[in-house]
Amino acid sequence: MAKQYGPTDIKASAIELIGNTPMVALDRIWPGPGRILAKCEFMNPGGSIKDRAALGMISGALANEQLKPNGPIVEMTGGNTGAGLAVIAAVMGHPLTLTTSAGYSPQRAVMMRALGAKLLLAPQVEGVPGKVSWQDACEALRLAESVCKEQGAFYVDQCNNTDNTRAHVETTGPEIWRQTGGRVGAFVAHVGSAGAYTGVSRYLKSQSPDVKCFVGEPAGAEAVKGLPVTKPVHMLQGSGYGNVPPLFSYDTMDGTVSVTDEEAVKYKDLLARTEGLYVGYTSAANVAAAVKLLESGQVPTDAWVVTLLNDTGLKYPE
Ligand SMILES: Cc1ncc(COP(=O)(O)O)c(C=O)c1O
Repeated sequence: MAKQYGPTDIKASAIELIGNTPMVALDRIWPGPGRILAKCEFMNPGGSIKDRAALGMISGALANEQLKPNGPIVEMTGGNTGAGLAVIAAVMGHPLTLTTSAGYSPQRAVMMRALGAKLLLAPQVEGVPGKVSWQDACEALRLAESVCKEQGAFYVDQCNNTDNTRAHVETTGPEIWRQTGGRVGAFVAHVGSAGAYTGVSRYLKSQSPDVKCFVGEPAGAEAVKGLPVTKPVHMLQGSGYGNVPPLFSYDTMDGTVSVTDEEAVKYKDLLARTEGLYVGYTSAANVAAAVKLLESGQVPTDAWVVTLLNDTGLKYPE
């Protein structure tokens, strides 16, 4: 018989720790007018926002029987989706094989292996350690596809899997709406697979078409904006691959904001030293983009701008 958890405040497993993250006001970085509000996605058990997508994609596959109970799972990952999948696979008893580019941070590899995943590294073909290009990611993708065939496993395919977007339509978007009491004026996020941006912006626009939604892009890799990619290699691991991701759609986008590596480093430091929030580079880039939006007048001066603190700073080497 299933254990009873009803009247207590005890979660049945780490899976129930995914989502429902707190929102924090960055009033020291941006004292106003307007506010920058950040979702603490680093508080998910896998340490990043990708836990939500991982849970959405695994529960979707189990529901439509693409994945059998205890069946094998394969995915290519920059490390965060992998950690999310590994949390779920550990609890649910699925064998998990992950492939990643050798250029991603070794901290992420340590976490995935510790959670019981088998991790295969693909060599870099273009970038350098800490900076992973789309070509590098494609090497890891090819490795995942061949391992998947060998194992007859469920291939998660986060870049094309619409359950990735659905997870954010059903959880992250409604949480933002609820936590701001519907007062959110703008949303900005960098895109990797685009699951988070597309899902959140779709939900927020469905509640109010007046919410303005912006994509952050690394300077020189602004493919969503339609610019030629001149700098495919940058510090924003997990986002800004210099392409328009398959899960992305322009219908909820009001504009883009470009962020340099220097700005990401500056805001990573500011978030830690003034807000007490030790987060990764894409989180810092999201906050930099929110500041730029408020400074540029693209949103009203008193707007509440919501963004995402995607992962913990502990996932990166100093
Ligand atoms: C650190 C980090 N930030 C941002 C993203 C982008 O999220 P999404 O894939 O939902 O666009 C990712 C995705 O892996 C990530 O790992």
